[in-house]
Amino acid sequence: MTGEPSARVPWLAAQPRRRFLLGAGAVLAGSGALAAALSRPAPPAARDGFGADWLFGPFVQGSTDPDFDDSGMALVSVPHCVVPLSWQDWDPSDWQHVWVYRQHFLAPAQLRRNRAFLQFDGVLSAATVYLNGRRVAMRSGGYLPLRCEVTGLLTGKDNVLAVVVDGRWQQNTPPDLPEFPHPTAIDFYQPAGMYREVRLTGVPQTYLSDVYAQQIAVLTPNREVLLHCTVDSAKAVKGPVRLTATLSQHGAEVASSYTDLTGLPKGDTQVTVSLQGLDAVRLWDLDDPALCDILVTLEVDGRKVHTYPVRTGLRDAQFTVDGFRLNGRPLKLFGLNRHQWYPFVGGAMPDRVQRRDAQLLKEDLNCTMVRCSHYPQATAFLDACDELGVLVWEELPGWDHVGDTAWQELAVRDVHDMIVRDRNHPSIIVWGTRVNETLGQYALYGRTDQLAAELDPMRPCTGAVAGERGYVSPLYPVKAGGGVFSFNDYSRPRPPGSPPPLRPPRRGVPYLVSEAIGTLVGSAYFRRTDSPAVQREQSMLHAWVHDRAASDPRYSGLLGWCGFDYPSGWYHHYRGVKYPGVMDFFRIPKLGAAFYRAQRDPSRGAVIEPAFYWDFGPGSPQGGPGRDAIVWSNCEVLVVTVAGKRPVTVHPDRTRFPHLAYPPFSVDLRVNGRARPELSIEGRIGGQTVLRRRFSADPAYDTIAVTADDDQIVADGADTTRVALRLLDRYGAPRPHARGVLAVSAKGPGVLIGDPYLDFGALGGAAAVWIRSMRGTPGTITVSATHPFVNTGTATIVSS
Ligand code: GAL
Repeated sequence: MTGEPSARVPWLAAQPRRRFLLGAGAVLAGSGALAAALSRPAPPAARDGFGADWLFGPFVQGSTDPDFDDSGMALVSVPHCVVPLSWQDWDPSDWQHVWVYRQHFLAPAQLRRNRAFLQFDGVLSAATVYLNGRRVAMRSGGYLPLRCEVTGLLTGKDNVLAVVVDGRWQQNTPPDLPEFPHPTAIDFYQPAGMYREVRLTGVPQTYLSDVYAQQIAVLTPNREVLLHCTVDSAKAVKGPVRLTATLSQHGAEVASSYTDLTGLPKGDTQVTVSLQGLDAVRLWDLDDPALCDILVTLEVDGRKVHTYPVRTGLRDAQFTVDGFRLNGRPLKLFGLNRHQWYPFVGGAMPDRVQRRDAQLLKEDLNCTMVRCSHYPQATAFLDACDELGVLVWEELPGWDHVGDTAWQELAVRDVHDMIVRDRNHPSIIVWGTRVNETLGQYALYGRTDQLAAELDPMRPCTGAVAGERGYVSPLYPVKAGGGVFSFNDYSRPRPPGSPPPLRPPRRGVPYLVSEAIGTLVGSAYFRRTDSPAVQREQSMLHAWVHDRAASDPRYSGLLGWCGFDYPSGWYHHYRGVKYPGVMDFFRIPKLGAAFYRAQRDPSRGAVIEPAFYWDFGPGSPQGGPGRDAIVWSNCEVLVVTVAGKRPVTVHPDRTRFPHLAYPPFSVDLRVNGRARPELSIEGRIGGQTVLRRRFSADPAYDTIAVTADDDQIVADGADTTRVALRLLDRYGAPRPHARGVLAVSAKGPGVLIGDPYLDFGALGGAAAVWIRSMRGTPGTITVSATHPFVNTGTATIVSS
């Protein structure tokens, strides 16, 4: 479990309390070394290790005082969730309290001479920050950074940072609501904690606080990047000031330019630098996400005082009434919605784990787009989308309700902070400036759309609407111009079981289907333990709506609901988990994912993914998967053989799915399961066999497979990797009907994030734990999973 008191982790408990000595230029970071290791773009200033370790406990009177006796507090690791959680049955009353985090550190003289800024990337649900006993900042709302200046407040002795974290429902803050002071009033749980990084940055008296790289006429010979730079000066400057910008790609400088000023007033000054002559820049695209590095250097009186790096990519993204275009080329948006929550820790997963979701969406599920439903997500996730070539919709926090005036002011603040944080990400193509599934609110959305247009003229705005009223509502949501009409299309199939319809695209506006399927169409639950027929149906339902969306160029595309199961106490949940994901909460694909997995050009690898289990045990039909067994594949022809006899050649079902690039194959697989026949599926392209998969009906050879996503992690106390635990047949195909309890343990310098005992029956034979490194303790971590009557599987991870 994580969020552990130190008593549960003997290694941590044994450590003396730490006081961190901060580096000179710029400082405290939750996992600076990790960031470097994972090639995140450099932040505005250099960062040094602050360490993931914090002292933590329930808030008590006096616990923000520097002298508070914190010797009894638990040593915890940030990202952090205030309570240990399991993979289901979360109880919000466990985290809905007030907590405190404390940090002791030494600030070197140079930092004390500089200006210093504290930044908390995400704290749920409200944070009040005290430095050396002084209240310096407060923010309510857990999805965007709290940043505050602490210049002059650092001392040469022990500095004490204390953060009071209010984990309770914040009635006046999006996405929470005043009307329903209850954590199950919205469709996702928000476990409390300092669940993203914290950093303290030192900068000179005059520095670059922000750079926005606006792209202009990218597809023309007059291509330009207009850099909107904010120079923040603590005092007026008299002498010459120069801002120089260079743009490089793959290490080679392409363009450079500068703007001169004479003097600066105290406070913020906006300066633009124009970069032209960019013909040689390779455009950012899905198959070639070519990034550019822009470096802006600030000189005052001929002396370089500060640099600000921006990583971006040049691309032209347009929503039109005839569909979406990337770099002038029509592109059907094909994707899923993503929630950011994980078993055991809520949102408290570090960069590597966040990035992994982007990789799964791109490489496993073949998505060209993801919607960050329903709040701004980790920048590490967006960085990975930039690097991998995944398009992104990012939206303000909110879900189906708009609160009072004070609440709305915070919604406007969130739109501002989201766009300023993320507008240089080439992956982002549209801003959600309207709360999911809310209608009307013309005054509020007039403001948020206007604000978005000012902060980022490059991208359109949108907001998902739902229901009949949403579909027909006049002027919504493209009133301010340049918008995209996005509709959560949960049209139900009639009769049930038939292909679900989609609404026709609204005329005269760019149109995107922002949600479909999930728990509102088809089954309410798509659990691994549900019948194979239900799980098969999930793949078919997603395929049908994508097929529809592909049938008409006016659909910009479709984003299914949803990528991963998530925690919720609202409607159609089972023991606090919603099951509409095509991957489960642990990010292990269900049968429903088979459709997405096959939608890739075979040059990226042939795929054969049945939407059934080759299993004849309890819960699986003895007569086999039936007359219309579905196999998803990107091959031209499949040759299916049961028990080595009478191979059958099958072709893609283009009748039911005329518009999919890779329709499914329907196979008659009525068999006698008692004979335990083996199944072989051979995929052919151009007459050649490109892939052969085998499936065993004999559970005698089943194994527990234990596989780590990474064989190396960084020993910084924050870096974490997933270890998947799956019951597989002898050829590696999933076996759903597991029994027994899996005992999981980790040896070596790693913390097990996960339940040490997992009910493998309830989990359908698939789960995961995560392993977090220990700060400063390298070594080999061995994860073992022992099943009472299968086997013990192990995986090793080197932490260095
Ligand atoms: C939609 C909503 C999603 C989710 C879904 C139910 O209306 O936008 O966030 O709650 O319903 O599965």
